[in-house]
Amino acid sequence: MSRADLVSTCVLLLVAGHETTVNLIANGMLTLLRHPDVLGRLRHEPDLIIPLVEELLRYEPPVHFLANRSALEDIDIAGTIIPRRSPITLVLAAGSRDPGRFRDPDRFDPDRADNAHLGFGSGIHYCFGAPLARVEAQVALPALARRLVNPRLVTDPPTYRPNPVLRGPRHLLVDLDAVAPATDTATRERVHRPAHR
Ligand code: HEM
Repeated sequence: MSRADLVSTCVLLLVAGHETTVNLIANGMLTLLRHPDVLGRLRHEPDLIIPLVEELLRYEPPVHFLANRSALEDIDIAGTIIPRRSPITLVLAAGSRDPGRFRDPDRFDPDRADNAHLGFGSGIHYCFGAPLARVEAQVALPALARRLVNPRLVTDPPTYRPNPVLRGPRHLLVDLDAVAPATDTATRERVHRPAHR
């Protein structure tokens, strides 16, 4: 790769991979604080985090829409023709709450079956960092659930960053009674141990 390719790839990875994951964790904590029953379950049901993160990506996705597409040819959608070369905006967040696809779409339900959301896009441009983003949220949210003692939202709704594409709070103000010490070495081992060991 040329130096310019390397620099632009680094910028892409930082931009695509940082604020998105920050927002997944912040949107996730906000949603859990609004659903204390699920937050309580997460403390005792470690496996819940896998479907929970998928449901967050459907219900409160960090990327709301993609505006940089155009039709390569005429596209017929239910009798409406989108002409070739028309600009297209894909509203992923709306697709992930499509009532024709998801039952009771505006309900946060980590036990939802068949949860094929659009949180990481779809097709040839499907998110390159999806496995990393999933692991980050799967580690961060249970750690916060275990260690924050009696967390309470100070402001609900929080102030959001003024970005229509990437949705997330500017800050998530939380009151708590204490921070419990980290005890879960099992999670750290599972995540950090190289696969060949
Ligand atoms: C929760 C966190 C994340 C979300 C919600 C997210 C979402 C998305 C979405 C919706 C796309 C599709 C864009 C399109 O079709 O134009 C995408 C693409 C991409 N993402 Fe992520 N992303 C996340 C984390 C990451 C991370 C951690 C990295 C890298 C370390 C990353 C790197 C990329 C790259 C390079 C692409 C472009 C793929 C391509 O065009 O072939 N993303 N992401």
